[in-house]
Amino acid sequence: MDVENNNTQPPAIAPEKCPEKRKATDTSDDKIVEIKRLKEDRSDVDSDPRPPPQSPKMRLQLEGKPPNNKPKHNKDLHFLYGNYKHYYGKRILDKDFHDIRLDVLATQPQLFRDKQLLDIGCNSGHLSIEIAKKFNAKSLVGLDIDRGLVKDAQTTISSLKRLATPGSRFPYNVKFVHGNYVLDDDVLLEIERPQFDVILCLSVTKWIHLNFCDAGLKQAFRRMFLQLRPGGKLILEPQSFDGYKRRKKLSESIRENYNSIVFRPEQFPEYLLSPEVGFASMELMGIPEHCKTGFKRPIQIFTKV
Ligand SMILES: C[S@@+](CC[C@H](N)C(=O)[O-])C[C@H]1O[C@@H](n2cnc3c(N)ncnc32)[C@H](O)[C@@H]1O
Repeated sequence: MDVENNNTQPPAIAPEKCPEKRKATDTSDDKIVEIKRLKEDRSDVDSDPRPPPQSPKMRLQLEGKPPNNKPKHNKDLHFLYGNYKHYYGKRILDKDFHDIRLDVLATQPQLFRDKQLLDIGCNSGHLSIEIAKKFNAKSLVGLDIDRGLVKDAQTTISSLKRLATPGSRFPYNVKFVHGNYVLDDDVLLEIERPQFDVILCLSVTKWIHLNFCDAGLKQAFRRMFLQLRPGGKLILEPQSFDGYKRRKKLSESIRENYNSIVFRPEQFPEYLLSPEVGFASMELMGIPEHCKTGFKRPIQIFTKV
């Protein structure tokens, strides 16, 4: 599959430094590390033949240890890429699980009908599946850096296939692949070729930016342009820079990257329209009427001629 690069080496616990770093953390491996750590903690307990005299907390107190001396497990370390497991549960608040962004996308349904789409950072695939179905896309590839989320998306699509009428386009037009959209080396851009009519990059730029810095995000923008056919569209929903600050505490590496950022979201259109990338025009597609201000992010369309 052309979209997926081979950047799936064994993960590091935390991303390396920018700009050299391009390797992705795989949260499932983090979990293995965490399970091993918990087992080691337990083996200490198991090797003590005495039954605990009281609750574990009381026992620590009886042994003269401060009750809260265990290192705290930072669950945020699993979400360094915005790879939240229950993202759609948080984002979609209405009872029908309707993503309000679909209303903005529905203002131009012809963009998707019979077209080949790539959805970068598809998470567990909820929105990708809705787009492919609602707009009758010819095909949709969802790509995500989190292997576990991609597996969830693949499971969903397999169940939909079991229920589908044979011969129908949906859900056979949807597939999900695991990979990091940011390539290990800019040189790899040279072998990119146009293969999509539309690329969706919704609420992902912040995460690429915080993990791969200005250089990684700029490379991703250039890759999007190269992967689009003439007349192709990039549909971009960038997060504002205000929202980056809250996430800088996720890890030391992300804090360093945050401090290194000079390329601000307000400058994305200028860069995308510059000769370095090459888009010909930009228009505002709309701003979703989400009840949470943080999710009212403008959705922009960049066109390649
Ligand atoms: C906040 S979620 C947005 C999900 C979806 N695009 C949407 O708007 O509903 C960001 C997603 O981007 C993925 N992601 C972050 N960096 C990525 C990268 N370099 N390559 C591929 N996926 C990435 C994360 O794993 C996560 O699922």
